[in-house]
Amino acid sequence: MAVELTKDIYWVGAIDWQLRSFHGFATPRGGTYNAYLLIDEKVTLIDSTKPEFGDELLQRISEIIDPSKIDYIVCNHAEIDHSGSIPTIMKAAPNAKIITSTKGKVILERHHKQNWEYEIVRTNDEFSIGSRTLHFATIPMVHWPDSMVTYVVEDKILFSNDTFGQQIASWERFSDELSFDVIMEENQRYYANIVMPFANPVKNALKLVNGFECDMIAPAHGVIFRNPEHINQILESYRKWSNHESEERAVIVYDTMWESTAKMAKSIQRACELLNIPYTIHNLTTDNLTLVTHEMMVSKYVFIGSPVLNNGLMPQVAAFLHYMRGFSPKNKVGMAFGSYGWSAQSAKLIEATFEKLCWTILPSIEIDYFPDETELLALTETVIKNLQTDHKQFAHVNPSECELI
Ligand code: FEO
Repeated sequence: MAVELTKDIYWVGAIDWQLRSFHGFATPRGGTYNAYLLIDEKVTLIDSTKPEFGDELLQRISEIIDPSKIDYIVCNHAEIDHSGSIPTIMKAAPNAKIITSTKGKVILERHHKQNWEYEIVRTNDEFSIGSRTLHFATIPMVHWPDSMVTYVVEDKILFSNDTFGQQIASWERFSDELSFDVIMEENQRYYANIVMPFANPVKNALKLVNGFECDMIAPAHGVIFRNPEHINQILESYRKWSNHESEERAVIVYDTMWESTAKMAKSIQRACELLNIPYTIHNLTTDNLTLVTHEMMVSKYVFIGSPVLNNGLMPQVAAFLHYMRGFSPKNKVGMAFGSYGWSAQSAKLIEATFEKLCWTILPSIEIDYFPDETELLALTETVIKNLQTDHKQFAHVNPSECELI
């Protein structure tokens, strides 16, 4: 069913309950493609859905108005999850005009190969649809070069498209109807896997967005924010993430061949416990690397381990490093570890990524064949000492008092 946000403004999008992978990242809670209908002198649809949800979109619009009465379709972003059902809408409303950015038009033409009528808008352009004014701001690279947001001046609603989105399939439409912790977890996961490489464009976008007084932020994915506290929190989170601020947390990521590297990971885990650093630990054979990327984004300390395999790394570790590097995470402390047989090589391969990302690098530790208890204890002690060298907050722990788990 369509859901009213405020008088004559409706959510008419689609819920993708089966979605488990979006854009390559894991979406255990499903997803949504939000579209919004504004009933005014000129009936306006903001964004659409993936192509396969076109009929669902049309049906929700029909609950409110005959779709042939749509005058404008605002396309904030031409990626196919938001423009995929525009052809369905255009068939139902052949006289509708598409409002988009210059680059949005280029991408829509490439995607859909149609001779639609366009109105091109730029930052600070305003457009009256009757009793309401649409104010546009382009936010290139959040997420694509064409991305823009639409602000309804009279209702103080920001339609932010991908920005502030989360992939959640839920009956509830507003952030105050669901657990805010779950929403923020999905928000972080979305930022980590989609938005993270575009930190500087996000900062520019936030300058524009902060200029709008928002009673509601309605993204194109996930729930709508109308609670002022939630609006402030989501804006603050984006500020923090775009400044590469992470938490005093650790993430230990590894793969293992004969459990030696797994044992080393446990020794590092012990060091984190003694230093009172909250951590998560992930074997990449069992844990989805896109979910681990989220933990990496929020953690200051990143430990990555692999045994040597054929003069290289275990494939899942290599994949994680490759994926992570694409996001350019900054301001982190990295440490490589791993076991080897006849030639220690994994640390330098892992550290090559740390160097590219300009991270602080703690001395790596590699152990040949199988680590014994003394070596594992020494590893815990060394990690503690290395963290204490540059991080005075850990000075209270005596490394020689470590015990194996
Ligand atoms: Fe939700 Fe960049 O598409």
